[in-house]
Amino acid sequence: MTRLWTGTAEWLERRRELEGRAIGFVPTMGALHRGHASLVERARNENEIVVVSIFVNPTQFNDPKDLDRYPRTLETDLELLRDLGVDEVLAPAAGDLYPSGYRFRLEPAESAPVMEAAYRPGFLAGVLTVVLKLLCLVRAGRAYFGEKDYQQLRAVSEMVREFFIPTEIVACPTVRAPSGLAESSRNALLPPELREMAPHLYRALTTAASAAGAQAQLQAAGFRVDYVEEHWGRRFAAAHLGSVRLIDNVELRENR
Ligand code: PAJ
Repeated sequence: MTRLWTGTAEWLERRRELEGRAIGFVPTMGALHRGHASLVERARNENEIVVVSIFVNPTQFNDPKDLDRYPRTLETDLELLRDLGVDEVLAPAAGDLYPSGYRFRLEPAESAPVMEAAYRPGFLAGVLTVVLKLLCLVRAGRAYFGEKDYQQLRAVSEMVREFFIPTEIVACPTVRAPSGLAESSRNALLPPELREMAPHLYRALTTAASAAGAQAQLQAAGFRVDYVEEHWGRRFAAAHLGSVRLIDNVELRENR
């Protein structure tokens, strides 16, 4: 049976009943797709109880238009989670997770912010703050994050280590369409003609000889590129197709 919790107080009561059980947790912003499903399946295989959160976190959106039009599909999300055998779904309201607004926040003090930290001011602080809140609410043994958002995964892992949070962060590989396009909730916002172009992002990341080469390929294909950069043995890109911003990354040894 899948239970839905929209209030943190009710959830915390339920959480007391789950004391001593092995809990796997998958935090999401909903508009669920096969990428999310892969995290949930892994959590299902490795834990007694699976908890999924669905919360479109306002503090991590630096562009209010992006927040407004972020896809919200709670009913179909719940159906998918039922089919996947999820036990508990947390879908709190913003005022419940942020009772005093955005008063307390966890801010990474980067001396030289790169990529998402440079292009989306406040994004990592919003993510770390909400993930800290959710990890405290769920107190899972394991929490599952996708390599699709690799910089986020790294920041969360480092935050958990530095604050001695007793939850293991499990990294899960990026799920892609046959075209190579990484599954993303934002793909649904692409009009059909741009959707056809989107797989170029993965193609450029994997086929270009250099980051500069990948950037040139993307520009030639009609993307407006924020960055193509290499860090931590991976190549990363963020680029706009029309009004939709896509990100992706690949391991460098995948190349050629
Ligand atoms: P969201 O974009 O909904 O993603 C939830 C989780 O699914 C993240 O860990 C993300 O990396 C993973 N994911 C997304 N697409 C994936 C794909 N194609 N393959 C594998 N995993 C994928 O990321 C967030 O939400 C938020 O920032 C959140 C962590 C929930 C905090 O608000």
